[in-house]
Amino acid sequence: MPTYLLTGAAGFIGSHTCVALLEAGHEVVAIDNFANSHADVYERVEQITGRSVKHYDFDVRDRSQLAAVFGRHQIDGVIHFAGLKAVGESVERPWEYYEVNLGSTMTLISVMREQDCFNLVFSSSATVYGESKILPIPESAPLSASNPYGRSKLIIEDMLRDLSSSDNRWHIALLRYFNPVGAHPSGLIGEDPKGRPNNLFPVITQVIDGRLPELQIFGDDYDTPDGTGVRDYIHVCDLAGGHLAAVENLGGLGGAHAINLGSGNGHSVREVLEQFQAVLGRSLPHCYVARRPGDAASCYADASRAAELWSWRTTKTLQEMVEDSCRWGGFLK
Ligand code: UFG
Repeated sequence: MPTYLLTGAAGFIGSHTCVALLEAGHEVVAIDNFANSHADVYERVEQITGRSVKHYDFDVRDRSQLAAVFGRHQIDGVIHFAGLKAVGESVERPWEYYEVNLGSTMTLISVMREQDCFNLVFSSSATVYGESKILPIPESAPLSASNPYGRSKLIIEDMLRDLSSSDNRWHIALLRYFNPVGAHPSGLIGEDPKGRPNNLFPVITQVIDGRLPELQIFGDDYDTPDGTGVRDYIHVCDLAGGHLAAVENLGGLGGAHAINLGSGNGHSVREVLEQFQAVLGRSLPHCYVARRPGDAASCYADASRAAELWSWRTTKTLQEMVEDSCRWGGFLK
């Protein structure tokens, strides 16, 4: 069975992808420095899968430790999740975003080249589409970035495209995630951001447990059916399945290819709030405030490329995303 190295393996998407790979019978070697995750995640992954996770606890930019991991294991491919991902923070501390996101990728690529490993799945983001005028958004849509986080993803995509054009041994999937949410149905792993959350689902779960007084809905005058922002929410287990499909089929991709991972459907903030209220059977405090600067009215994927390439498509509904988030939060049995 192939062995895959995951950087940022203890994070939200990394941990669910560990589960998907282990359940498919693959070997996983995990790296994380717990900058935005917790060490007990690995025990939980082991509890879900009944398999052990070999893990190493260091920053991917530590070149000698990274080379030592490659020396210890025969790595067939790498999934590179490690990185910083908060848009607002990236505006305040841009250099950290470039140091961590670009630095980790550059160290990783240079070690992979030395070790003759040319199979890579990279965590990109729909943020690279900026404010797209085309909906649903295909991979061919124009790319732009409006903050250092987005720019770091775009620069890395460009670097990887240049790399693969110069050397045809590379097989690279640039996975552009839309809005990952939900949690494993076991309630054992989920999203656990350190500090104040910015994203809709973690904000709502903090409103449910009283850590936040109310949900502030950013804008009710967008050009959308109910005036609130529309996004393509994707259950993290579906997203993990997308990584499994990508890494298992990298051989069929010569060069670097961008692939959207989304459901192709949009849901409004209002719909998400109503789904939480329906699942919990109670109303949640909320109010409408001004639009958040930089937010688009609507953003959802044209998800046809992943379906054509790998027969991959999402299976989970908004109700399942909300139920699993609530189970992870301890609000539902
Ligand atoms: N929203 C609120 N109130 C909140 C938080 C969010 O109304 O307290 C709204 C936003 O205005 C937006 C929707 O909920 O309409 C989703 O917002 P998120 O912050 O959860 O997600 P975004 O679509 O803004 O951002 C996500 C990722 C980014 C990525 C971006 C584009 O978090 O990393 O998609 O792909 F850059």
